[in-house]
Amino acid sequence: MNASRPVPRVPRLGVNIDHVATIRNARGGRHPDPVAAAKLAAEAGADGITAHLREDRRHIGDEDIARLSTEIGLPLNLEMAATDEMLAIALKARPHAACIVPERREEVTTEGGLDAARHHNHLAPMVRQLSEAGIRVSLFIEADEMQLEAARALGAPVVELHTGAYCHAALDGTAAERERLLERLRRGAAFGQKLGLEVHAGHGLTYDTVPPIAAIPGIAELNIGHFLIGEAIFDGLAPAIRKMRAIIEQSALAAKAV
Ligand code: PXP
Repeated sequence: MNASRPVPRVPRLGVNIDHVATIRNARGGRHPDPVAAAKLAAEAGADGITAHLREDRRHIGDEDIARLSTEIGLPLNLEMAATDEMLAIALKARPHAACIVPERREEVTTEGGLDAARHHNHLAPMVRQLSEAGIRVSLFIEADEMQLEAARALGAPVVELHTGAYCHAALDGTAAERERLLERLRRGAAFGQKLGLEVHAGHGLTYDTVPPIAAIPGIAELNIGHFLIGEAIFDGLAPAIRKMRAIIEQSALAAKAV
């Protein structure tokens, strides 16, 4: 299961449904149901569902993960902190993939990449146990050579490059800053593939910021959440997912045609 997979011509789209749960939890109760959103995302063309079970359960809860593991037809990518509690949950739920992310309770969202180099000894047994359970392990890291080499040394088959800084720069930074961060992601993606890693990317992506990321050669998967759930308020979830899919496809294929 963890053997290397062929890179798709167009990056897969993993839809992160955390913020459906954020809205549900604002009032308690069961509506809107993230599992129903996952089913709708599947119908709209999502290739996978991503959900982050945070330590404080601020959005997705344990029952959501149990239901997402059994009730949806798409691969589940469980985002998790590197803790014993999350490891036990992942080993029980057996998602298709587990993406290990850094987590601090006080942060609004996942603010930086995992320091895979510094935490090698802590991460190594987790990567091993998840892999032995047939779960495809991914590490959410910055596009940095040292971190990519650390991911490789840990035996993780996949890395997800953090696109947050690039997306912030695209909104509030200078054109030069945006280009510098984009170039860093391009180089990171190329270096990761050279090391034999499958390269994913995500965080903060929108219709405007996704095209150059989808155009990076060899990116196999993009994980997108907050923007799609926000757009669902205006357009509906299925049209937002279809539009994002179409932009990803156009951008990836146009880059290949050059
Ligand atoms: N990838 C990872 C590893 C994440 O932690 C998140 C946020 O949960 C995402 C992708 C999706 O980010 P966003 O919700 O900003 O699209």
